[in-house]
Amino acid sequence: MMPIAPLMIEHRLIERMIKVMRTEVEAIDKTGRLRPEFIDQAVDFIRIYADRCHHGKEEDILFELLARTAISDQYRQTMEELREEHVRAREMTARLVAAKDRHPLGDVMTIMKGLVDFYPVHIEKEDRRFFIPCMAYFSSREQDDMLEAFREFDRRLIHEKYRSVVEKFEGKG
Ligand SMILES: [Fe+2]
Ligand SMILES: [Fe+2]
Repeated sequence: MMPIAPLMIEHRLIERMIKVMRTEVEAIDKTGRLRPEFIDQAVDFIRIYADRCHHGKEEDILFELLARTAISDQYRQTMEELREEHVRAREMTARLVAAKDRHPLGDVMTIMKGLVDFYPVHIEKEDRRFFIPCMAYFSSREQDDMLEAFREFDRRLIHEKYRSVVEKFEGKG
């Protein structure tokens, strides 16, 4: 299996969540009612799954390895754009949390719409124009090692997540 396979599978789940969020935005628009528990779950999904788990493997493993490889200027530039887009997604998510706490419906809707519009474009860029050509820079042995590094990254994540939950309650987070 190519290491980009799990990343692409993760993209499919992110797309499903984005679809759910799009439906929620339409529901808020109709009813004028915000469901804080939905926002909390959506933020948790984006922060832990889309950002920490998924962007984490892209940035800490794939991009790190590509940064040490003689890739073309075009792919290097795309990689920088992708990194910046991850930063933008993080900023939008932080703004969503702040908007939810203050409760102005318009702000929450605007930011949720921003996230809903952002992810499909970002995913399309990676799936169609970056992941597959980048794999050509790695031997099959290097690809196997990358896949193993992804698995190790995922294995550690659940422990990291719940350690942070405990530390937050202990006042250290
Ligand atoms: Fe990404
Ligand atoms: Fe991605």
